Amino acid sequence: MRKNFGKKGMFTAPLPVLLVGTYDKDGVANLMNVAWGGQCSEHHVALNLGHERQTLENMRLKGEFTVMFATQETMVQADYVGIVSGLKVHDKVPNSGLTPMKAEMVDAPAFEELPVTLECRVASIREEPTGEVRVTGEVVNLSAEESVLNDKGRVDFDKVHLICFDESTLTYRAVGQVVGNAFVAGNKIRKG
Ligand SMILES: Cc1cc2nc3c(=O)[nH]c(=O)nc-3n(C[C@H](O)[C@H](O)[C@H](O)COP(=O)(O)O)c2cc1C
Repeated sequence: MRKNFGKKGMFTAPLPVLLVGTYDKDGVANLMNVAWGGQCSEHHVALNLGHERQTLENMRLKGEFTVMFATQETMVQADYVGIVSGLKVHDKVPNSGLTPMKAEMVDAPAFEELPVTLECRVASIREEPTGEVRVTGEVVNLSAEESVLNDKGRVDFDKVHLICFDESTLTYRAVGQVVGNAFVAGNKIRKG
């Protein structure tokens, strides 16, 4: 037996825990938690934002932002920036304990404690009929701490300790171990 949840179900679970960094008009670093977002083409990310976001104001002003991935080590900080808005608590980042530094190629902050950073330029900001705002960004640089690279120089996610958001139980979960090789595993049962 299957149960139908209709429109109230969560649709794609789990979701990533993206952390989006921006600077405001005074150069104050801001960070927010975005689960409804991800990579939408080879060089683009898409984010679904509510209207009342300091981040949105900053993106409209600067045209640039960063996207980082929350880790097990930064789970509390990631949640904090998802429940406290820069619109209410000016300069919330120092409270989080995270350490901002300017990203290499865009006018937006990276963070010492977050080892992988996508540096993005705003490609479009679109008001959706649902009342939300869809932001797409072109990724112009990926930077990563050397400590999370493998011996081939690529990001090794075993070393990043990613977490994801489980909307079904409103929890964060650790992203687990490798279970197979993409574009290869299916060959085992392939006929044509
Ligand atoms: C797990 C989690 C996921 C969230 N996902 C989103 C999201 O996808 N889009 C959004 O607009 N807000 C999302 N939020 C809420 C924002 O992170 C929150 O409103 C934040 O305070 C906005 O910060 P800002 O106003 O400083 O930009 C999420 C919060 C949490 C805790």
